[in-house]
Formats: sequence, C-alpha cells, structure tokens
Amino acid sequence: MGQLTNLYVAVLLSLCWGQWSEPDAERPSCDRCDLRLSCDCSRGGFTRVPAVTGRALTLDLSFNNITAVTNVDLMGHVELRALNLHGNRLAVIHPSAFDSLWSLEELDLSDNQLTALNHDWFGELGALLQLNLLDNPYSCVGSAPVFLGLVRLRRLAFGGPALVEIKRGALSGVMELEELTVHANNLERYESGALAYVWPLGRVSLSLHGPFLRDVALASAVVGDVSYPETAVTLEDLHLIGNESVQPFRAAARRRVRNMAFRNLSVSDEATVNMLMISDGIPFTTFTFDGVTLTGEGRWERASWTDQRSIDEFFIRNAVVLDVFKFVSFLQLGFLLQYPRKLSVINAKVFVVPCATTGLLLNLQYLDLSDNLLTDLTLAETLCHGSGTLKDLRVLNISGNALKSLSTLRRLVAKLYKLTHLDISRNRYSSMPDSCSWPSTLRHLNISGAKLTTITPCLPTTLEVLDLSSNDLKGFTVALPVLRELHLSGNKFLRLPAGSLFPNLQTLSAQSNTLNMFGHSDLQSYRRLQSLQAGRNKFVCSCGFVAFLRSSIEGDGVVRLTDGEESYICDSPLYLQGEPVGRVRLSVVVCHRVLFVSVSCGVALLVGILVSVLLWRLHALWYLRMTWAWLRAKHSSRRRRQLRDVAGSEALLSFDAFVSYSEKDAGWVETFLVPELEEPRETDEDYVNHRTTRPLTLCLHKRDFLPGHWILDNIMSAMERSRRTVFVLSENFVQSDWCRYELDFSHFWLFDGDAGEEPAILILLEPLSKDDIPNRFCKLRKLMSSTTYLEWPQEEEGKPEFWKRLRHALTREDDD
Ligand SMILES: *[C@@H]1O[C@H](CO)[C@@H](O)[C@H](O)[C@H]1NC(C)=O
Ligand SMILES: *[C@@H]1O[C@H](CO)[C@@H](O)[C@H](O)[C@H]1NC(C)=O
Ligand SMILES: *[C@@H]1O[C@H](CO)[C@@H](O)[C@H](O)[C@H]1NC(C)=O
Ligand SMILES: *[C@@H]1O[C@H](CO)[C@@H](O)[C@H](O)[C@H]1NC(C)=O
Ligand SMILES: *[C@@H]1O[C@H](CO)[C@@H](O)[C@H](O)[C@H]1NC(C)=O
Repeated sequence: MGQLTNLYVAVLLSLCWGQWSEPDAERPSCDRCDLRLSCDCSRGGFTRVPAVTGRALTLDLSFNNITAVTNVDLMGHVELRALNLHGNRLAVIHPSAFDSLWSLEELDLSDNQLTALNHDWFGELGALLQLNLLDNPYSCVGSAPVFLGLVRLRRLAFGGPALVEIKRGALSGVMELEELTVHANNLERYESGALAYVWPLGRVSLSLHGPFLRDVALASAVVGDVSYPETAVTLEDLHLIGNESVQPFRAAARRRVRNMAFRNLSVSDEATVNMLMISDGIPFTTFTFDGVTLTGEGRWERASWTDQRSIDEFFIRNAVVLDVFKFVSFLQLGFLLQYPRKLSVINAKVFVVPCATTGLLLNLQYLDLSDNLLTDLTLAETLCHGSGTLKDLRVLNISGNALKSLSTLRRLVAKLYKLTHLDISRNRYSSMPDSCSWPSTLRHLNISGAKLTTITPCLPTTLEVLDLSSNDLKGFTVALPVLRELHLSGNKFLRLPAGSLFPNLQTLSAQSNTLNMFGHSDLQSYRRLQSLQAGRNKFVCSCGFVAFLRSSIEGDGVVRLTDGEESYICDSPLYLQGEPVGRVRLSVVVCHRVLFVSVSCGVALLVGILVSVLLWRLHALWYLRMTWAWLRAKHSSRRRRQLRDVAGSEALLSFDAFVSYSEKDAGWVETFLVPELEEPRETDEDYVNHRTTRPLTLCLHKRDFLPGHWILDNIMSAMERSRRTVFVLSENFVQSDWCRYELDFSHFWLFDGDAGEEPAILILLEPLSKDDIPNRFCKLRKLMSSTTYLEWPQEEEGKPEFWKRLRHALTREDDD
C-alpha cells in the first residue's frame, strides 16, 4: 500500500513537473518593445505566448502559430491595455488565462480556432472596451451569456463562416455599443430579439449574405432588431437580385433608419428599383455604397414616382458597372438626383458626367469625383464649360484624375461663386499660368502630388489653406496674406520660404525636402507660426542646428515641432549619420572651435612663458650649456691626454699657472699678480736663503689664448697646459660666466685628472664668505670649503707674506 502511495505521488509529481516546469523552461521571449512599451511580437513564429516585460502596455501577437493560452502565460500583466492574438491557431484558452489583465481595454481573438466561447475568459475584464471574436469556428452564440461582466464594452465583433445560430441571451449584459459587427453569412437560426435592446447603438455592420438570399424572414428579423433612427446600418456581402431579396430592407425602413450603407454589394436593376420603392417617403438621408457592382443597365426610371426628398448624400466608392456599354445615362434620374447636397463617386472609372446630368444636381454643394478618369476635355463637359451650372457648389474634389491644364480649370470654376474648397491633387499639372482669376470665395486649394516646378501669382490670394506637397518646387515667392496652413512636404526646398510672405501662417509642413538646417532666424520671420513639421530632411547636424532643435523639442520655442523628434535624423557629418538629432551631443571642441583654439593657444603661450620664466629663474640654460660644455670638454680632454701620453707629460706643460679671473679684476692681475710672479724682485729673504726666485710663467686669457679657437677649448687647453690654476675670486668673478666655466673645468680636471694634489689655488680678492656664492655654484662652494685659499690682504704689510705663500703654493712640486 505504502509503495503504491509513493508511486502515485511520484507520478503526480512528474505530471505536475511535465505540465508546469518544462514548458516554462523552453518558453520563448520577445523583446520587441518600443519606448512607449508597445510590444510588436507579430509574425515571430511563436507557437506559444512568449515572455514579455510585465510593464508592457500593448502586446501584438498576431500572425503567429500560438495554439493555447495557459493560465500563467499572461500572469502579472496588470498594465496591459491591448492584446492582439489575431491570426493564430488558438484552440484552447485557459478559463483564467486573462484573469490578471485588469487594465485590458482591447482584446482581439479573431481568426483563430476557438470552437466555443467561454464566459469565464472575460470574468475579470471589467475595463474592456473593445472585443473582437470574428472568424472562429464556433457555431453558436448565446447558449450562455458570454459578455455578462463587460460593463464598459463599446465595440463588439463576433461571428464567422461557422456561425449558424444566435440565441436570445447572446448580448445579455451589453448595455450600449458604439459599434457592433456580426458576420453571419451562413446563419440559419436566429431567436427573435437576440440582438435587440442594445441602445444607444452607434454603428452596426451585418454580413448576412445567406439569409438575404435564402431566408428573408430571418434576415428581416436580424436587420429589424438593430435598426434605430440614430444608428448607421451597414449591410455587407449582399447579392441582391430580385424583388424578394430586398424585402429585409423593409424592416430597416420601418424602423426609420436614416443612414444606410452597403459594402461589397452586387445589385440588379430590379433590386434597385424595389429598394427605391421601399424607401419611398422614408426619411433616409445618407446612402453609402462601398464596393458596389451594378449588374443591370441602369433602368431605374420605374421608380420615378417615389418620393426621395429626404436624401442628402450619396457616397459611392469602388463602383463597377458590369456592362458599361449597355448602361443608360442617368438622365431619367432627376427624381433621385435633384435632392442630395453631397455626391461622391470615387474610384468608379467615371470619365465624364454629361452636362445634362450635371444640370439635374440642383442642390449640390459637395462634389467628389476623385480617382476617376476625367481629362481636361471631359471635365469641361462635366462642369458645363464653365457656365456656372452647379451654382451652389462649395467643395469640388477632382483629385486623382488625368487633368493637365490649370488655365482650363480656372476657366471652368470661375463662375462657381460659392466655391471654397478645390482639391485638384494627384493630377498632372506641370506649369502654372502667370495670372489667374478664381472665385473670390476660394479658401482651400490642394495641388499636391502634381509636377509643378515653379509657382506664380496665379495662386489666389484669398487662400487660407494651401497644399503643394509632393511637387518639384524649389522656392516660394508669392505673398499670401491670409494663409493659415501651408504644406510643402515632398518638394526640393533647400531652405524654408521667407516668412514675411505669410503674415498669418500658423502651420507649416516641409517634411522630406532637402533642407539642411533651419534655425531661430528662419522662424522669426513667421510672425504667427505655431506648429512646424520639418522632419525627414537631410540635416547637417551643426552645433547651432542641434542646439536649436533640442530646445524646440523641449518646447522652449514658440513654434512646436508636431511631427515627433524621431523624424529629425542627421544626414551629415558622416559619424552622426542616422542619429536622431535630439539625441546628438556635440562636444565643446566641435561647437566652439575658434574659441577653443584661441583659448588653448593662449593657455599654451602662458604655460610657455611660465616655463621660460621658471627656467630662467632656475638658470636651466646655464645648466644646459654647462653640461654640454662639460661633455665636450671631457671628450677633447681625453683626446689631448692620449696625445700627451704619447708625447710625454712635461713637454706639454708650458705654464706654471693658468690665471682665471674676471675681466673686471684685470687691473689687479696686471698690476700686481703678473709683475710679482713673472718678474720677481730679489728680496732680502731670498738673499739670506741663497736662492733666487724663479720667474713663473702665467697663462692669461687676454694674452695667451689662441685667437680664432673656441673659447672653451682655449680654456681647457690652457688649464691642461698649466700646472696649476689660480682663481681670482671676487664678486666680479662670481658674476662672470666664463670664470665659472674655468672653475668648473678645473674642478673636473681636479677630480678627473692626474694633476696631483691641489692644482687649484684660490685667491680671495675681497672678503667673500661661502654664503655669498649662489647655490648653483656648488663646486665653487665645495672647493672653498675643501681647499685653503689665500686672502689678498688689505694692509700693505701682509702683502709680502701673501706673495710668498702664493709663490710657494705654485712652486711646491718643484721643491719636492
Ligand atoms: C505556422 O505553422 C505552419 C505549419 O505548421 C507553417 O506553415 C507556418 O509557416 C507557420 N506560420 C508562422 C507564422 O510561423
Ligand atoms: C463580397 O461578397 C461575396 C458574396 O456576395 C463574397 O463571396 C466575397 O468574399 C465578398 N468579398 C469581400 C472582399 O468581402
Ligand atoms: C415585390 O414583392 C412585394 C411583396 O413580396 C410586393 O408587394 C411588391 O408588389 C413586389 N414588387 C414588385 C415590383 O414586384
Ligand atoms: C478629395 O479626395 C481625396 C481622395 O479621395 C481625399 O484624400 C481628400 O481629402 C478629398 N478632399 C476634400 C477637400 O474632401
Ligand atoms: C491634399 O490631397 C492629398 C491627396 O489627395 C491629401 O492626402 C491631403 O490630405 C490633402 N491636403 C489637405 C490639406 O487636405
């Protein structure tokens, strides 16, 4: 028993494992979410709901291969506003799959494999506004109330090819709707009142192809249930042939529907006539036919006795006449055409409306013949050669035809004295006459999508709105004093036109031109401009432009950029290409180059000066010169020593002493030192000691330096050729550079060389303490402390002793 229990638990566990953990391990994820947290995971090949961020606001999973939504797939998506599962293979939705979607407003489950609707799915969707359940294989709606909790529901769509039954409870719980769409082309059973009692009901769209053909009573019941005077009723996919098939229409007429539309309709002459009869005296105001195929010959005059005076608008689009050549003219339809104020016949291959037919449109104020085959010639016929037939016409739309001549057009509309809107866009106008006269009422003119290369004063000055987009314009020179809106997108403007031409302009669009940049100065000339659209141009992201655009995006300027910052993309410089201007950050170096260069030059100069001053203070030059001289001296000394080694030492020693002194002490040297040492007098002492005083040979730079030789070489060789060096120290000596060199070389000689002990003799001409000598003459300082020096006595009686000691110092070696 225990074993069995264990087995049971194990099986259960593995089952749970298999069901919950394993799928999660392989759950795909989708990170195609934009900044507005809108996640587009459509066409991603997903076979199950992918994981997306829990903060997503909209999630598009359409056109995948998702087969099921489990209870964990959408867990935690409390922020989700819209979920689109259109075009999957959904067959299973867990009853609590949508339970956490408290904020969901739009849910699209259309085009899937749901075979039954479950009211549990929608139990927690109290915020739902829009629900689409079209084209699923469920066959019945209403066996249980599905939409009961959806108190805020405003747009509902259900049905599909499989729907055969609608039961009474179908819409219970639905209070009011803006839009109801029911696809029931194969409906077989309908419980009367199933779609009734939803009120107010804005628009209803019913596809009842089968019932209209086969079960007129059923179709009448459905149409009757949704028809209210304020509701726009659209019937789709109908094929109306005989008297019988139009009878459900009677149900709508009885409920006094005013706005009736047909989409994807094919209709015969007989059905048309019967429809006109049914609407006799009924207050229908608007008939819309979108996608209509006329299978007859236009023989509708049998209904000419009917009263159609309430009809205000005919809107016909995408109409096909199956047999154009048999189709009679509308000349008999005066009973129908004299009332409407608005007539649109769009994309119906109309190439002409005979002037006689135009004459029937007595009340016409709005004529839209866009996307047809009109030419200048046939337009002339249509507008009765400019005789002003449509005297009340306010709006004329002949967009998308094959018109070429503006002067013809101007002639044709000149007498339409109430014309305010003229849309001649998407025609083949390529030039403009130099001047034109237009109805003085004209306010809106649309000449977009033509091939204009220049504009002329032909443009009426009364215009408030002018659309010249998608032409080949490069400039704008015409002043339009009352213009409020100007559209220039898709041209070849290099710069914005001068604002002084449009003192009242409020809106300007200039997208997709060749603008490189624009700025404050360009916009300042527009006195009233409020909104500007200038994206998708080839922007040169200079500093000025980037700064200007950033401030505009942040709303600092008077003018708002209404086309979104993402449409402003840099085209150059190359390294910024493709970058949104709003996100570009340019450095100071790029933006203030002149300033930057001058500042950095200034700084460099300052630093240079500081360094020079510092170097000068530290006598760097002197040190440098010293080092170099020292190196050179060392080199030549080595050479000389080798020479000397060959020749023998004594041969080269031609002086007893080299006297190093400052020029300023020359007086002392010449008057005292030289006579005393070179021409000695016999003294008493000498006599006593029986020895004669030998004259010494001195080397003085003034006398013994070889002219034309480098001075340092001269000093060097003088020192080397002398047995000793006598330094005459004084303030002057310390001041003189050359003396210092001499001292240094002697010093170097002193420690480097083999000149015996104390080759340097210092004579202190005036009392000079070690501290008086600048720090950098460290050698001299060192020498002064290591070598004994002779002081030149100030008193006369010390002098003989001084000379004696000097002479002794100079001749010591001789004595040895
Ligand atoms: C869905 O699956 C079918 C067959 O399994 C395949 O042909 C189709 O390409 C898939 N669709 C997508 C969007 O991955
Ligand atoms: C138009 O209606 C016909 C039935 O009358 C239907 O077969 C066809 O698919 C419909 N076309 C469109 C585009 O809905
Ligand atoms: C069309 O049928 C209705 C009733 O089904 C009948 O009253 C009417 O006279 C018929 N109209 C024509 C033109 O046959
Ligand atoms: C004229 O028709 C075109 C195309 O149908 C449309 O885009 C345009 O808005 C219409 N113009 C006016 C003034 O209604
Ligand atoms: C001018 O016509 C084009 C094309 O028909 C249309 O897209 C555009 O909206 C119209 N411009 C205005 C200002 O209505």
